[in-house]
Amino acid sequence: MDEELTIRACGPRDAPAMFAIINDAAQAYRGVIPADRWHEPYMPLAELEAEMAAGIEFRGCESGGELVGVMGIQDRGEVMLIRHAYVRTRDRRKGIGEKLLKNLEATTTKPILIGTWEAAAWAVKFYQRNGYRLLSRPEIERLLRKFWSIPERQVETSVVLAHPRWKP
Ligand SMILES: CC(C)(COP(=O)(O)OP(=O)(O)OC[C@H]1O[C@@H](n2cnc3c(N)ncnc32)[C@H](O)[C@@H]1OP(=O)(O)O)[C@@H](O)C(=O)NCCC(=O)NCCS
Repeated sequence: MDEELTIRACGPRDAPAMFAIINDAAQAYRGVIPADRWHEPYMPLAELEAEMAAGIEFRGCESGGELVGVMGIQDRGEVMLIRHAYVRTRDRRKGIGEKLLKNLEATTTKPILIGTWEAAAWAVKFYQRNGYRLLSRPEIERLLRKFWSIPERQVETSVVLAHPRWKP
């Protein structure tokens, strides 16, 4: 499959296709993340459009001319954050996530941080396999409050992983 995968920048016109991928992929969270944090659609179209307008740069992976995965990167000054990483359920574990991550990593020389649900063990494994280190609880909470804008309940139930370039 690998030879037919291409990565490209996504823009506002891709939002409906991105919305479909995100909400298909987010089904993985159902019954896993804290019930009070689950809602459907997991990410409404308006929220995705607002994230794009606020400067999260998205790349998408196409297979046969169709988007099958998306991942965003956000400049937060000292660091870059990887945001909203989603690969369509039926296209998982084929290297698409890794391809998107490597592509975004190549766009910056800044340290990269990634936040995800603590309960999303597969995502933690995916980032660790790609060289990211799970940080300690005090550091996680400090960084989530500094670089992310998320509710306190999400801080308690999330983890942060750091690229080897990250120096506390
Ligand atoms: C996390 C995600 C983006 C990874 O994308 P992907 O294309 O499946 O990842 P890759 O094929 O590049 O890498 C696969 C590796 O990731 C890990 N991994 C991915 N899914 C896994 C699963 N369900 N269980 C265990 N490990 C998993 C494994 O290390 C796997 O390697 P292996 O197949 O050799 O065991 C994708 O699983 C996804 O969209 N998940 C649902 C949404 C999500 O959790 N997003 C992360 C938000 S920060």
